[in-house]
Formats: sequence, C-alpha cells, structure tokens
Amino acid sequence: MSGVPEKDAQKTFYLETFGCQMNVHDSEKVVGTLIHEGYRQVQTVEEADLVLYNTCSIRDKAEQKVFNRLADYKKYKKQGKTFGVLGCVAQQEGEKIFERAPYVSLVAGSASYRNLPSMLVQIEAGNSRVTGLDDRETDACFETEFTARTNPHRGYITIIEGCDKFCAYCVVPYTRGKERSRTSESVLAEARQMADLGYTEIQLLGQNVNSYKDSTGDVTKRKTFAELLTAVGEVAGIKRVRFTTSHPRDFGRDIVDAIDASPTLCDHVHLPVQSGSTHILDAMQRLYTRDQYLERIAWMKGAKREISITTDVIVGFPGETESDFAETLSLLDEVGYDAVFAFKYSPRPNTPAITLEDAIPDEEKARRLDVLMQRQREIQITRYKKYIGTHCEVMVEARNEARSQWTGRTTHNKTLNFTAPQSSVPKVGSYAPVIVTGSFPNSLLGELVI
Ligand code: SAH
Ligand code: SF4
Ligand code: F3S
Repeated sequence: MSGVPEKDAQKTFYLETFGCQMNVHDSEKVVGTLIHEGYRQVQTVEEADLVLYNTCSIRDKAEQKVFNRLADYKKYKKQGKTFGVLGCVAQQEGEKIFERAPYVSLVAGSASYRNLPSMLVQIEAGNSRVTGLDDRETDACFETEFTARTNPHRGYITIIEGCDKFCAYCVVPYTRGKERSRTSESVLAEARQMADLGYTEIQLLGQNVNSYKDSTGDVTKRKTFAELLTAVGEVAGIKRVRFTTSHPRDFGRDIVDAIDASPTLCDHVHLPVQSGSTHILDAMQRLYTRDQYLERIAWMKGAKREISITTDVIVGFPGETESDFAETLSLLDEVGYDAVFAFKYSPRPNTPAITLEDAIPDEEKARRLDVLMQRQREIQITRYKKYIGTHCEVMVEARNEARSQWTGRTTHNKTLNFTAPQSSVPKVGSYAPVIVTGSFPNSLLGELVI
C-alpha cells in the first residue's frame, strides 16, 4: 500500500482508557486519528513508541493514581518513548502535569483530539511540553473523520459535549467545559454512514443528552432531543437506539412518547437520581426534588412498553443524615431499578462541595454503600426472576467457551447468557430470540428459540 510504512518501520502506540463511555468513545477517535497518521496500535507499553493515558477525574484520588501510574513507567523514558496524558485529568491539571512528571511530553483534553497530528509533529520536532487544552469552546471534539469504533455492530455517537449543570460535587463542567451540541444534520449523517457499514445499534452520548440544542443551519430541520432519537431510530438498518446520560431536570415526557412510538428506541432509561432526599438534592444543586424525580418515573411506568430504569446514587454527601439516607433506600423500593451504580461521595478539586462542612467519615460512607447495595441486590433478585419464562430478543455479543454459552443483551440492557444447539450457532452481531430459563441479581439465563 502506498504511503503506509512497512510494519517494522511503523511508529507504535499504546493507549489505556479510564472513565465513562464518553472517554471510551474519545479513545476510538484517538485510535482512528493515530492509525490515519500511520501509527500501529500495540497492547503493551514495552512495544510502544507513544504511550497515552486517557484519564478520568470523577472520583477518588484520580490525579494521584495517574501520577503513580506514570511513575511506574518513568524508566521507559530513557528508551525514547513519548508519554501523553489525555482526558479529564489532563484538562483539570493542565501544565502542572509537566512539573510533577517531567517525562510527560503531551497533555491534551478531550476537545483537542482532532489536533493530535499537529501536536505529535511538535513533539517530533523536539518540543517536550505540548498541550491541547484550549479548544473547549469549539465543537472540534465531535468530529474526527477517522473514529475507529472497536465493535462493528454497535457504536457510540457523541451528540453533546460538556455540561452546564454544575452539580456541587462534580468535576465534569471543569474538565469538559461548556455544553456544545452537535447539529442533528451531522449526527444523522454519521448514523447513516454507520448503518451503511453494518452497524445496527447506536448509542447517543453526552453528559446530559436532555439539554441537547440543535443548531442545524436550516431552522426548519432543527430537532429536539426526542425528535433526534426518533430520527436516528428511523435510519434504515438501525435496529436499536440507546442514549446516556439523562439529567432528570431536563428529562421531558416527549422522550417517553418517542420510546412509545418507535420500536427501535430501546426500552431502557438511565436516570441518575443521586439521592432520595430533597434536602440533599438541594445541597447537591441537582435542580429537582424527590417528587419531581418520581413524576418522571411515573411517566415511564405509564409507557406502553415496560421501560427498564437504572440510576446512579452518591452516598455520604456532606450533611447526609441517617434519615436522608433512609429516603434514598425508600426511593430504591419505590422505583424498582434494574441496576444502581452507587458511589461513596468523594471530594473533588474545583467543586463547591469541597468546602462543605459535615463531612461523613469514610467508614460510615462505606457502611451506607454496603447497606444500599444489599437492598438493591434483593430488589434485583425479585425483578430479574419475573423474566423467567418470557421471550426476549438479544443482540448476540460474544461466545463464552468455558461455559459453552453465548452472551447477548436485551432491549432492557440486561445481559442474557444463553445456550444454543450446535446445529444453530448464532452469529455475533445478529439478533436472536431467547427464552429466559433462570435469573441472577445481575443477569438472565436462557436458551435460543429455534
Ligand atoms: N452526567 C451524569 C453523570 C456523570 S458522572 C449525570 O448528571 O447524572 C457519573 C456518576 O458519577 C454520577 O452520576 C455520580 O453518581 C457519580 N459522581 C460524580 N461525581 C462524584 C463525586 N464527586 N463523588 C462520588 N460520585 C460522583
Ligand atoms: Fe456532573 Fe451534574 Fe453535569 Fe452530570 S449533570 S456531568 S453530575 S455536573
Ligand atoms: Fe470521568 Fe471525564 Fe467521564 S471525569 S466520568 S472521563 S467525563
């Protein structure tokens, strides 16, 4: 092939990704861009000329963990390897990273990945402190022509970047910057392209997809988020559309109506609640009350199809009393979630909550987390049992040789492991009918229906 160097002459890169789906998808943009530049991806630091960490800063001592990891690899600098820190810790710490880890040559935030080629040229020219930190007001981050999606059947599309909500505990507005939406015209063009390539499932991504604002040039073509969902679901070849994450404040009834009207929109909504106590929600600056949250849940429960609901919870926010926590537990009972991602509150740099008094001791946070997970486990055992005997369509994801099973995912986003006779082996990426024969707290068991 002209223009592409022989394998041995090719530069190599290693990329490790931490964090949310947006970071996972950003890494696909990075990989695509580097491959287009003639780099080859390798699976170990040892083999790589360029070592990149796409970092997350959401909880714990994220910065420290990144520095520890980098320190492990200091020895390789002598071998001429180039180190780069990407993502939210890069954006948050900026040039301070060069001070603490002088062997790092590149520090770049998520909005700058389109400019990676020129940043690498600067490094090759001998510049040992190259940054990509200033592009957050533009929409450069949405579009890299070369996004290399790792799964050939289902793929992400970023529709909105950044966040303007400024919840009191959260770093995202500081790391990803202001909200910017991609035009629906361009989202739909990408969805059509993906469908042409054989993708059947699309997941629309943003920190808050519900505050999507279309700026398509032709005003008559502008879409609300719910209209965009419907339009992506109508793209020929697309069988499933998912979206994440929704902020309850901006979650409109029109989204439930869209799910009701379009069979391709999956029967699953992830609606992070964070706390069941209005008092704590207020301290978190979440902009909704328990009752307003439950109103949105009621819309979903009133839908024609059963919508599976999942959430995120933070326990031990400063000032959370036993009775606030009890309200979170009672909310779990009331809603009946199919999955809860629960976290101990962790103070983060730059966020207003870091100055709040009444911190909850770590052991108490851990206890509350434990109690909550235990309660939710019981809820899930009951909920998952109800599926036994029902038929589900799954998108086949993988084969588990050790268990002689296949793994698939239902429209409700549940994992369904199933067996199939040797005479009808399902294809990865295909949609298969399965009857549910058993259940666990986090997954279902079944048999292929022939
Ligand atoms: N944009 C999404 C969530 C983004 S972060 C939303 O608004 O819901 C993913 C989850 O991490 C959050 O829902 C929250 O539960 C958790 N999280 C964020 N900051 C945190 C912190 N400082 N401590 C503990 N958990 C946190
Ligand atoms: Fe963070 Fe709140 Fe924005 Fe979600 S909505 S990203 S929790 S600030
Ligand atoms: Fe982490 Fe940044 Fe995502 S902080 S959760 S990688 S937006």
